[in-house]
Amino acid sequence: MALPDRPFYVVLMGPPGAGKGTQSAILENEMGLKRVASGDLFRENLVKGTPMGVQAKSYMDRGELVPDDVTVGMIRERLTRSDCQKGAILDGFPRTLPQAYSLDRMLGMAGRRINIAISISVPDEVIMERMTGRRVCRAYGHVYHVIFNPSKDPQICDVDGSELYQRDDDKEDTVRNRLYVYYKQTAPLIGYYFAKGVLVEMDGNQPIEEVHGLLGQIMASQA
Ligand code: AP5
Repeated sequence: MALPDRPFYVVLMGPPGAGKGTQSAILENEMGLKRVASGDLFRENLVKGTPMGVQAKSYMDRGELVPDDVTVGMIRERLTRSDCQKGAILDGFPRTLPQAYSLDRMLGMAGRRINIAISISVPDEVIMERMTGRRVCRAYGHVYHVIFNPSKDPQICDVDGSELYQRDDDKEDTVRNRLYVYYKQTAPLIGYYFAKGVLVEMDGNQPIEEVHGLLGQIMASQA
């Protein structure tokens, strides 16, 4: 998939478990466009024991959003690094209207903008099934599912050989709260990006390869 010859920013939205991480990782490999995942950045900070990581953990464990100022500051710093000069695939950011306004401002100051915002929808009961079966690798966060996308060895990552684990926030009660928070705080972004003329909505309740095929068509139509 060819990278457009101009800075290109993709927002991937959707409820927890919609497949944002799975699809953005494939797109990153294919397009050479850097994936910037707010949840992964918080988890990396937690592993390093930074104050931001420790602060974020208390929100993540409850399935709530980390405060906007912390999240926006983290993303602003990440987007200014050299590997994001061609743009980025934003996975899980923005997640509130104030975050979206801040992102527009920071890109606008550099003469850039969001080119496409893709909203992936998946029914709630499918989400519960996906989250409870998700496994993630310790080294780089490669994502698997015990049924829908299993690794060869259930405990080992196929890509880098590190241990697979279940995220603390993938427990049923926490997932329910994350879904509630999604509908309350993040779903309004669908209207926001529609009004800006950059929204594409797609059905994520299909096998991974088919979702990927659809995303490829969407990207090709924008390039
Ligand atoms: P984050 O890590 O971003 O979690 P999330 O958005 O809730 O999304 P997930 O990573 O859970 O799901 P996903 O859509 O990436 O699905 P995946 O591809 O893994 O955020 C975690 C926390 O950090 C938040 O709760 C919040 O506290 C904080 N945070 C993050 N960003 C923030 C922000 N902007 N503001 C404030 N706080 C923030 O797939 C899920 C499973 O399904 C996998 O097992 C996968 O193999 C499987 N699967 C994927 N696609 C398919 C398919 N098509 N068919 C079958 N199975 C599939």
